[in-house]
Amino acid sequence: VITDRTVSKLHRGNLLAAGVEKHASVLEISPGEASKTLATVEMIYNCFSQADLGRDGVVVALGGGVVGDVAGFAAATWMRGVGWIQVPTTLEAAIDASVGGKTGVNHDRGKNLIGAFHQPEAVLVDTDFLATLPDRDFVAGLAESVKHALIQSSEFLEWHDQNSAAIVARDLPETEELIYRNCAIKAAVVGQDEREQGLREILNFGHTVGHAIEHALRYDLRHGECVGLGMLVANEISRSRGWMAREACAPVRQLLVNLGLPVRLPRSINPAEILAACRLDKKTRDGVLRFVLLRRPGEAIRGVQVSDEEIVAALGAVAAGAG
Ligand SMILES: NC(=O)c1ccc[n+]([C@@H]2O[C@H](COP(=O)([O-])OP(=O)(O)OC[C@H]3O[C@@H](n4cnc5c(N)ncnc54)[C@H](O)[C@@H]3O)[C@@H](O)[C@H]2O)c1
Ligand SMILES: [Zn+2]
Repeated sequence: VITDRTVSKLHRGNLLAAGVEKHASVLEISPGEASKTLATVEMIYNCFSQADLGRDGVVVALGGGVVGDVAGFAAATWMRGVGWIQVPTTLEAAIDASVGGKTGVNHDRGKNLIGAFHQPEAVLVDTDFLATLPDRDFVAGLAESVKHALIQSSEFLEWHDQNSAAIVARDLPETEELIYRNCAIKAAVVGQDEREQGLREILNFGHTVGHAIEHALRYDLRHGECVGLGMLVANEISRSRGWMAREACAPVRQLLVNLGLPVRLPRSINPAEILAACRLDKKTRDGVLRFVLLRRPGEAIRGVQVSDEEIVAALGAVAAGAG
């Protein structure tokens, strides 16, 4: 069982009570994005080695997206792949990171540059874990839900609008519906294009700039917070091309506000640094940036070539309160 120290402190008692530790070794890593490194993977390999983990063993990732990504990558590469199970404990992981089999770690030059596709044998979502999740982390996860709605379902987007108060209050029926519908959307997309040869790219909506912001701010903001800002930048590019009407963009921004997500780019953001980080996006071909943009809420277009000038203008607009 790979977990992080925060999750362990809060929930390890349940593992003990269930007798899990009679049959399993438990490794705690440091919480946070800084743990998504090859050094952590090496530490996990050492734990596998001590536990004599063979191909018949199973790795359980108990935690948020960081634990899932790093433990999944270790499982993907140990003995060329051992089975693993995801037990997501954050909203981000429950509605996005735990589904789809992407695993990996960061490199100094950028996020998620090292990784592998390795599907978990199962994903077990238990909403009880969310009871201890701080509000900021819960809200950050909601950005991915808005992303799924924006790329696939204008009806789901309306559902967010109508239920935003219950969602933020974490009412159980809405939380369960939110998790169920997000997993269904993501699984349907991944089911059609597991290795991101095409369609799956739409799941990266908001992530080209989002990952660049995350990297530029040295992971000071949550992943979901950066994705929210990245979606606003993408929408601003769509708007300036005449694809998304201003009347379609404004409600998206308002929804993010209602959910408690940041909508202003921090002043310290340097556009040149964002552009450089964007170039490392895995969708870049021959140095040309390719974005996922919206034609309208619910309809995403992938592989759109976007110029540096368009990105810089959109960054400026979102910094000034547009998007
Ligand atoms: N593989 C994918 O498809 C995929 C998709 C989306 C995001 N991600 C990755 O996921 C990461 C973000 O995930 P995250 O937001 O879950 O971050 P995280 O794993 O860092 O968790 C956020 C914080 O919440 C704490 N925490 C976790 N569960 C808790 C609980 N139940 N109660 C209290 N505290 C708890 C953690 O210790 C951590 O401090 C990023 O690295 C992102 O790149 C991966
Ligand atoms: Zn994401």
